[in-house]
Amino acid sequence: TTTVGFVGWRGMVGSVLMQRMREEGDFAGIDPVFFSTSNAGGPAPSFAEGAPALQDAHDLEALAKLPIIVTAQGGDYTKDVHPRLRAAGWDGLWIDAASTLRQAEDSVIVLDPVNRSVIDAALAGGIKDFIGGNCTVSCMLMGLGGLFTAGLVEWGTAMTYQAASGGGARHMRELISQFGAIHGAVAGELADPASAILEIDRKVLATQQDPGLDASRFGVPLAGSLIPWIDADLGDGMSKEEWKAGAETNKILGLGQPGPGGVPGTTAIPFDSLCVRVGTLRCHSQAITLKLTEDLPVAEIERIIDADNPWAHVVPNTKEDTVRDLTPVAVTGTMDIPVGRIRKLAMGPEYISAFTVGDQLLWGAAEPLRRMLRIALG
Ligand code: HSE
Repeated sequence: TTTVGFVGWRGMVGSVLMQRMREEGDFAGIDPVFFSTSNAGGPAPSFAEGAPALQDAHDLEALAKLPIIVTAQGGDYTKDVHPRLRAAGWDGLWIDAASTLRQAEDSVIVLDPVNRSVIDAALAGGIKDFIGGNCTVSCMLMGLGGLFTAGLVEWGTAMTYQAASGGGARHMRELISQFGAIHGAVAGELADPASAILEIDRKVLATQQDPGLDASRFGVPLAGSLIPWIDADLGDGMSKEEWKAGAETNKILGLGQPGPGGVPGTTAIPFDSLCVRVGTLRCHSQAITLKLTEDLPVAEIERIIDADNPWAHVVPNTKEDTVRDLTPVAVTGTMDIPVGRIRKLAMGPEYISAFTVGDQLLWGAAEPLRRMLRIALG
């Protein structure tokens, strides 16, 4: 059996990864070694019977003994440890959830239901760094990848509705606390059906605008509001999250793009987005517009999406099906990637809309890493 090192397994993405690995019996085929940045020498997690005591996540010698390292520790850890390991000659496989190495020339973004051929070619070609993609990009391609890989997409946009979990565990707590504070401010009025709604509204707004409301994670209140900017300001009017939509979509598909990661001789698909944080917990939703390369019947578009992978499935474009099946509450905690609201747009027969929802911690983060490990183990 192969020894696999795990770093950052206790955080939010790491915990979901561990849960999925247990569900799928993945620990049976490996000898896991767990690393810690704070508790070296402590006991290994109870779910990994027989694993040695926790090792120091900054012990390069211990890390360099491993043929495979899986990390969900975050970008700062990758930035610190990965280059030093490589400089010391380590040639094991690095499987990582952070964005740090995604656009490196010798890395691959892993989403095997969509780009297994890119992954296989990279493994055969000696590539050693396999990085999980941005959550919105991974969830979008899990839903609509069939149209992309069939060469049917001329260009696309994603208008996103992204959950608090994309910021981290503390962001989720902050959102829920804000909901609680808002409710607390008007609980008395809510209990009285005769109370004035505009008075309730005034008190809610006062609570949201109160400098005492904890909004330290997101910077501004999110509960009962939204924030139309995610990740860094690139200085040209684009957020980093929006830049990732085009750059990562094309890299996953193995298509050319400006900058590192592009494949010479191929043409990138223009894909752009406008990314918005909303007050949901862990499902990212996206309203997609695609210009297809041809005028396909809607039934054929739906067939391609349904057939692409076992997790994407079409939600019939009716009110009843949509409100039942195409929401964060319906999808959270499942591997499903429903795709609905598919219809031709007024702009012409090649233009379609679609709406998709995906659990940001499953297909958006942990699952592509778990599956990459399985692929690497052969
Ligand atoms: N940047 C994403 C978000 C995190 O903030 O929602 C997942 O890649």
